[in-house]
Amino acid sequence: MLDQIFNDCKKQLSAALKHKKHAFRFFTLASKNLNENINLRTVVLRDFDPEQMTFTIFTDARSKKVKELNENSHSQFLFYDSKRMIQLLILSKVKEIHHQESTYNIIPDANKKDYSSIQIPGSPIEGPDIVGHDFSKSFFTKIIFQSSSLEYLRLKRPNHIRAIFNSDDLWSGQFLAP
Ligand SMILES: Cc1cc2nc3c(=O)[nH]c(=O)nc-3n(C[C@H](O)[C@H](O)[C@H](O)COP(=O)(O)O)c2cc1C
Repeated sequence: MLDQIFNDCKKQLSAALKHKKHAFRFFTLASKNLNENINLRTVVLRDFDPEQMTFTIFTDARSKKVKELNENSHSQFLFYDSKRMIQLLILSKVKEIHHQESTYNIIPDANKKDYSSIQIPGSPIEGPDIVGHDFSKSFFTKIIFQSSSLEYLRLKRPNHIRAIFNSDDLWSGQFLAP
């Protein structure tokens, strides 16, 4: 049964790459700054490798998360499927942070806007309309995370199901009291 749970998690994470409405398309990414304060934000799952258990996101190189992840590569992800009442908590470390011109060049212009604003993300502005873009200057960045554990929780009757899977145990899994 542990195997089935882990395989279902991997199947659902892979499905989220193809289906825009999948609950796991968006997740919460936590990072820590140098003062040990935790910062959370929603991001899109851009790639997932079920063999390597790596996760990829796209972001702007100037964003706070990039600074924090460069200073402290440990991060945590929260995925939540509200229909199936499934929560995944994943511990990860940054594997690679790339400034990637090749991927930026092939994404649609509408999406390029997310990585080419003239104003630095998070800086104060007078209003949303004043934000300008320079498509020739890309701050597009791909971050690949290596996960080391995945904790699964499904709320269901008669028994909730909670289990932890660690890379150290080759992801074999262990049930936990919910
Ligand atoms: C639905 C949704 C999806 C988002 N996807 C991304 C994303 O894939 N990458 C990203 O950098 N920011 C994404 N954001 C914006 C982040 O949540 C965050 O506000 C921004 O990246 C700045 O975060 P930071 O200052 O902590 O680095 C998304 C926000 C929402 C509401």
